Amino acid sequence: MIMLFMLFHFVTFPISEESSRKPIILVPGIGGCQLEAKLTDDFEGDKDCHHEREWFRVWADVAQFSSMSKESICLQKYLKLIYNETTKISESPKGIKTRIPGWGETTTLEYVDPSWTAWIWGNLGTYLSPLVSSLLALGYKRGRDLRGAPYDWRKGPHSQIDFFIKLKILIEETTNLNKQKVVLFSHSLGGIFTLYFLQIMPRVWKDKHIDNFVAVNSPWGGTILSLLCYASGYNWGIPYVDPLSLRVLQRSYESSSYVFPNMNSYSKNESLVLTPSKIYTIENIEEFFDDIEFNRGNEFSYNVMPIIKMLMHPEVTVNCIYSSGIKSPAKLSYEQGFPDEQPKFIYEDGDGTLITRSMKACEIWNGEKSHPDYNFYLHHVPGVNHHDILSNKNFLKILNIVIE
Ligand SMILES: *[C@@H]1O[C@H](CO)[C@@H](O)[C@H](O)[C@H]1NC(C)=O
Ligand SMILES: *[C@@H]1O[C@H](CO)[C@@H](O)[C@H](O)[C@H]1NC(C)=O
Repeated sequence: MIMLFMLFHFVTFPISEESSRKPIILVPGIGGCQLEAKLTDDFEGDKDCHHEREWFRVWADVAQFSSMSKESICLQKYLKLIYNETTKISESPKGIKTRIPGWGETTTLEYVDPSWTAWIWGNLGTYLSPLVSSLLALGYKRGRDLRGAPYDWRKGPHSQIDFFIKLKILIEETTNLNKQKVVLFSHSLGGIFTLYFLQIMPRVWKDKHIDNFVAVNSPWGGTILSLLCYASGYNWGIPYVDPLSLRVLQRSYESSSYVFPNMNSYSKNESLVLTPSKIYTIENIEEFFDDIEFNRGNEFSYNVMPIIKMLMHPEVTVNCIYSSGIKSPAKLSYEQGFPDEQPKFIYEDGDGTLITRSMKACEIWNGEKSHPDYNFYLHHVPGVNHHDILSNKNFLKILNIVIE
């Protein structure tokens, strides 16, 4: 019976079904895709670390998150980056190679850790799987009109120009295959990467290939968590991970510098970090990096492409989506022991991770004055957090409209 129905369905509507859906390319957020490592004979590590010379999944491996485990030390070695002062680009240290698996596919975005352990530990390895399932239910097909663009979320855009070259080809392929322009769908940090891509592409190319840009909960105005990573380490709220033990690793990641609190949401003289002896603002942020003994933070911020700081218009239709109604870290307050002790957060409204005014800074693209030729839509999903929005019913209703 079901088979018959499906056959009937297929015979009757194949053409209209294909043409009513816009192909989608997913650009994940920070930590939102798998990363593989391979050690070479130059690797200088503990005897306890990997011995095989094969590629293995290094992000995520939930079982190794715990600071109690010896493996977590190895994990940090594999995931660390070294900054090259000549080229201003970050790379893996000698003896370690890393790569981003699953180009063009969605599997490595659906589960960052597909293991049973991750599932048992509260589904920690799941990322875009619920969203992909919702899209499959609408008739989307992986690899055809639903594709993924994973990137190295440890590095800034300037350290992985090859990602943008590959993304251009993937978009062209997907447009040709489906005879339709694509929807570029980003979550969180993925919005910054996608914006950068759109800013560097010529307008004729975008008019031909991009239907619209869907940016979900993006840190346009930055986030205070980027400063926390560099100052004291940040454990993403996972209770059994010691934040300070992650600081060395997080200090090697330049991607955080792309989401420093900026003037798209904070005023120049507004306090960002409070300590008993000093208040840090955007204006004296250089002193902040000096005081936490991390001068590289200043260098990282000089390398950030100005194009992103200024939120130049992407020259495509934009659907900027954000959620709110949850207290979110807006400032850091240290009582003592700055920066090695963990600060208290000063909260304001947001999605639990980002503050509302940062996610809403996309409003700068609203109105004819910003760009006469491209529409801008701001969508609000109340009462849902940074990750849960991706499987939220009200969010999916909005998505349904913008991909139709
Ligand atoms: C930095 O990059 C340059 C140019 O690729 C290279 O010659 C140099 O060895 C690198 N420095 C380090 C410390 O790896
Ligand atoms: C910040 O600067 C504005 C004007 O530039 C001023 O009105 C305001 O009082 C200042 N706020 C602080 C906290 O210094």
